[in-house]
Amino acid sequence: MTNEGEKLIEQFLNAQRIRAHEFADGPALFYRLEKHLDEFRKQFKAITTRFSQEGAIDFTSNDILSFSSSGLLRKATDAEMAKYPQFPIGSCGSRVLDGSNPYTEDLEARLAKFHNAEECMFYNSGFDANAALFSTIPAEDDAIVYDEFIHASVHNGMQLSKSKTKLSFLHNNLESFRETLKGLSSTEEKLRKGDNSIIIALETVYSMEGDLAPLAALIQIAKEEFPLGNASFVVDEAHATGLFGLNGRGLVSHLGLEDEVAIRMHTMGKAIASTGAIVLTNTTVKNYLVNFSRAFIYTTAPSFSTMASIKCAYDLLESDETLVRQHRIQYLVRLLCARIRAIPLYERAKASGYLRVPVADGFEDKLLMSHIVPLWSEASDALSFGLLMNKITAYPIVFPAVPRGTKRVRVCIHADNTEEDINRLVACVDEWLQERFKDDKVLGVEDGIAGTWHDFGVIKGKVEPAKKAVPCTNEKELEETNTGETPEVATKLPEPYPIEVREFEVSHGKIGMQAAEIPAGMKEVSGLLGRELGPGPEEKLVCQLSEELLPSSSGGAAVLGPQSLPREAAYGPGWWPGGLLGPL
Ligand SMILES: Cc1ncc(COP(=O)(O)O)c(C=O)c1O
Repeated sequence: MTNEGEKLIEQFLNAQRIRAHEFADGPALFYRLEKHLDEFRKQFKAITTRFSQEGAIDFTSNDILSFSSSGLLRKATDAEMAKYPQFPIGSCGSRVLDGSNPYTEDLEARLAKFHNAEECMFYNSGFDANAALFSTIPAEDDAIVYDEFIHASVHNGMQLSKSKTKLSFLHNNLESFRETLKGLSSTEEKLRKGDNSIIIALETVYSMEGDLAPLAALIQIAKEEFPLGNASFVVDEAHATGLFGLNGRGLVSHLGLEDEVAIRMHTMGKAIASTGAIVLTNTTVKNYLVNFSRAFIYTTAPSFSTMASIKCAYDLLESDETLVRQHRIQYLVRLLCARIRAIPLYERAKASGYLRVPVADGFEDKLLMSHIVPLWSEASDALSFGLLMNKITAYPIVFPAVPRGTKRVRVCIHADNTEEDINRLVACVDEWLQERFKDDKVLGVEDGIAGTWHDFGVIKGKVEPAKKAVPCTNEKELEETNTGETPEVATKLPEPYPIEVREFEVSHGKIGMQAAEIPAGMKEVSGLLGRELGPGPEEKLVCQLSEELLPSSSGGAAVLGPQSLPREAAYGPGWWPGGLLGPL
């Protein structure tokens, strides 16, 4: 293993070291925090801050147009700042005290015009802007309706909002959206009569899925269900900025829907390669935010250097550079999808839950694709680690950032990625799959720990329905989830938890058999997807392996992960998910 690899492993293992006992005699505060952290560490889930590996291929940063890594923006910003030697770097005040200046206000006016909006206002981050919008705008009798995959910052805003009604609909699902609105219309008279508003929260490009909102259809449905015009859209363009629309104006602009969307939020930290965010809206909303948005009033205005870099990024956007870069991303994303689908083991990997790339399905028919290509894999940690070992940076994304059971390695394409970069990425994925499927030794896998499982004795199993996550509503529930997130973000299992137990017994099976090898009378129930037991990804097969069977199973121990990892730490007491063959 390379030194780099050893370093990564050491870093990871260090982060998982149990520590609370060292704090037992110290202040209660630190002891409690360490105990909570230990819950994560025991599950090998503790994370740390990271920096990019030197010389690695970047498939993770949000530098979508490569304005930052190419040095283009640095050069332009240095020149811009040199033009104003008299400007103080820091704003040193709130926008409502002395933190405003003509440079900032001119830039706001320019960006409003560029994005075809009445007004533009800066926030210090996209997180702040979303949290501010949803905590400030909705009134008590307004309803907030949001896509279930909406960003954490919107949840933070909703948590502080006065609105009593907050409803999610299934991700990008038009029927679910219509049903949700219909439900509101039939039960809430003030909404039906148009006295109050329905505030609809969407992202144009979903940050963890890489898919696009069917914006025009959603707007049409809202008009049909609330014909008095009291449904207002608040749309997050974080990942569409720079990528879509003329000169990167965003997806709303690409679709010509500016007048149908009440508020747009564009982040400046992604394609714009700076920090902060802009809110595009009308004068009423802007005045309201200036007066009531705490994240605008009680904070220091962005510095001159930030404003200068945003100005220069918009100069670049308005140059032909953007068009070339937008096209290049479309090309590279499609190349990646085609190459992934051409991996000889891809279909088999897809069927077993080992690797699936939803945005690659039918990509040929999509007019626009985002730069985000999630590689879904139950072994996403192992896949990411394999890529890191090959000097490719793409990280695993796990719960609570994505729903349970949908782990993925998130690949982001940048304008300056090369075809060779894509080929290297795909070659690594291909090699990784070949290794996993070698000698049929796959499917006993969780959190990147895979192993061989041959000739076991009797196994009892049960089918665990998909855990439909629901937001926690109080601190106690939150504590039980141990996610460390805020209640709106953290999710809990419904109570009582409906477990459908179907006992079955298996003898002398083998993981990862080819269909042709399956002995008569046995059926593949193929591990992670539990294909024969339930409707695929909705259910997960969970097996309980009797302790006494372990010694008699020739390859059994390997299934439980590397010998060095205590089994319980990896999977929880007595449980491990895996694949098996057996009579049903
Ligand atoms: C969809 C979406 N909205 C908002 C944000 C927050 O933006 P910022 O990084 O500027 O705080 C992000 C970034 O993670 C995002 O992906």
